[in-house]
Amino acid sequence: MIPAPPRPGPAGRRYDRAVPERTIWVIFGPPGSGKGTQAEQLTSALGVPHVSTGDLLRTETESGTPLGAEVAPVLAAGELVPDDLMERVLERRLARPDAGRGAILDGYPRTLAQARSLDTRLASAGCRVPAVIVLDVDQDTLVERLLQRAGEQHRADDNRAAIAERMAEYHDRTAPVLDYYRARDVPVLEIDGTAGIDAVHERILRALASRALIAAR
Ligand code: AP5
Repeated sequence: MIPAPPRPGPAGRRYDRAVPERTIWVIFGPPGSGKGTQAEQLTSALGVPHVSTGDLLRTETESGTPLGAEVAPVLAAGELVPDDLMERVLERRLARPDAGRGAILDGYPRTLAQARSLDTRLASAGCRVPAVIVLDVDQDTLVERLLQRAGEQHRADDNRAAIAERMAEYHDRTAPVLDYYRARDVPVLEIDGTAGIDAVHERILRALASRALIAAR
C-alpha cells in the first residue's frame, strides 16, 4: 500500500488516510439526516470528492437532458429511480479524474442490488468500502429539517407527500443495506446526527479515528 499524502483537516489539523489509495466511502441515513452536509465537511479530511446521486439526478433534470426528463417525475414523487439507470449515472461520475482517489458516496447504494453491484465493481478495481457512516436522526427532526429547507430551496420532493414516500422507501428498501454490510464485516459507524453540524462532523472524525480509518496528527 502506498501511503497517501496527508490532507488538511478542519481547524488546521491534518489527517493521514489509513486506507488504500482508491477508496469509496459511504455516508448513509434517512432523508434529511445530513448526508450531503456531512459529506461536504468530510471531503478535506478524506481527500476525495463528495458524490451525491441525488445531486447528479437533479443536475440532469435542471439541465433538461432526456435522462433528466425521465427521472423528474420519479424524484418529485419521492420514489427511487431504477437501479440500472442509477448505476450508469454513477459510473460516469466516478470515471471523472477528481474521483481517481475515490469518493464519498451520498445516496448510494440505496438498494441491495446497488450494494451488490458496487461491491462487484470495487472488487474488480481492487478497492473496497472501508466503512459506512450512518447518521441517526429522529423522525420529527428529519421532517422539520426538510420542511424548513422547502421554504428555502424549493426542491421538488420537499413536500409532505413526497417526504412520506422518501421515508417509506428508506425504511423498506434502503435500511436493509446496512445488514448487507454488517454481514460482510464492513464497519457500520452509527453517529448521532441530531447535534449541530460541526458537532456531528467531530463525532464522525472520532468514529473514523477510533477504527484507525483516519489518524489524527
Ligand atoms: P437525495 O438527494 O439523496 O435525497 P435524500 O436521501 O432524501 O436526502 P436529502 O438530500 O434530503 O438529505 P440529506 O440526508 O442529504 O441531508 P442534507 O445534508 O441535505 O435523493 C433524492 C432522490 O433522488 C431520491 O428520493 C430518489 O428519487 C433519487 N435517488 C438518489 N439516489 C438514488 C439511488 N441511489 N437510487 C435510486 N434513486 C435515487 O440536510 C437536510 C437539511 O437539514 C438541510 O437543509 C441542512 O442544512 C439541514 N441540516 C443538515 N445537518 C443538520 C444539522 N446537524 N443540524 C441542523 N440542520 C441540519
